[in-house]
Amino acid sequence: MNKKTLLLGEDENSIDTAAKILRNGGLCAIPTETVYGLAANALDGKAINSIFTAKGRPRDNPLIVHISDIDSLEQLVLSIPEKAKKLAEKFWPGPLTMIMPKSDVIPEEVSAGLDTVAIRFPSHETARRIISCAGVPLAAPSANLSGSPSPTTVKHVIDDMYGKIDAIVDGGVCKVGVESTVITLATDVPRLLRPGGITVEMIENVIGKIDVDHAVTEMMNEGERAASPGMKYKHYSPEANVIIVDSKDYISFVNSKKADGVFALCFEEDSNSLSVPFITFGGENDPNAQAAELFAALRELDEKNAKTVYARCPQKDGVSLAVYNRLLRAAGFEVIKP
Ligand code: TXA
Ligand code: MG
Repeated sequence: MNKKTLLLGEDENSIDTAAKILRNGGLCAIPTETVYGLAANALDGKAINSIFTAKGRPRDNPLIVHISDIDSLEQLVLSIPEKAKKLAEKFWPGPLTMIMPKSDVIPEEVSAGLDTVAIRFPSHETARRIISCAGVPLAAPSANLSGSPSPTTVKHVIDDMYGKIDAIVDGGVCKVGVESTVITLATDVPRLLRPGGITVEMIENVIGKIDVDHAVTEMMNEGERAASPGMKYKHYSPEANVIIVDSKDYISFVNSKKADGVFALCFEEDSNSLSVPFITFGGENDPNAQAAELFAALRELDEKNAKTVYARCPQKDGVSLAVYNRLLRAAGFEVIKP
């Protein structure tokens, strides 16, 4: 808590100020369509280092590089695979991150020693204006303290980062609400490493069959090398102990657990039938709303001092796969089927 953190808006002056901070090696939280990012100049190893310090992020977890025009891609990667070109054409700008073999301009600090780099072209207009005005690609992890839920509102960013970084740009509430889909094109068959708003089904419609890394829905084995280092860390965790309840009898099960500090994390339709306090995350048949509301709901549970949280189990396909993947990590993979 020693830096003076500027709070900026989306006006021309604010964008100029944010861009200047970034060009000069500073740290600035910026809105994107997925979650808020903690940005720094991706070509400046020293600036990148300070991202890891501010977040308390393990140094072996590489960062995503954000661009605001497709032409910037060429200098960042060794070559652009055909399938990457097709996906870019269809889904960029938007919530899709593609991993490709990296070029020499990517500092060690960004790729965390790997020979690949993750690239994303966000659709959020303010993010694009900031990147383009800064004139450099921006490395940006989610703007939360490492281990806690990703920020989807400027308040979440202020709670985690105020006093630690140079500026925060308020761009309102993030629409998608879960981080971008991450796919690697550096393997023979493209492989999904993190599900998000661009679904497996949408990707396969464009480039055919892809693999889904087992770590998307399963705990990694001890000693296993992570295809995506971020997947091995406990994530998105509120203080409370979260347990996923995979059962049609969710309501009666949770009602039977009524006690001090017990909360339900449920769909809107459930709320009338519950006799324990609850926080909702979207409607049962509205995966986009579930994704948009999940992280805020996890933070709210902490504010209410929840001790044990019984969470409704989402579907496991489409956008719901992303919701399930985040919830699994918040729960430390604890799923019960009563
Ligand atoms: O939506 C998003 O992607 C947000 C916004 C700010 O753009 N960013 C974000 O970054 O979620 P972060 O750092 O929280 O998550 C990046 C994930 C991590 O799991 C990391 O391990 C993985 O992407 N990753 C980055 N570079 C990689 C690489 N070269 N190979 C494998 N995984 C990589
Ligand atoms: Mg993150």
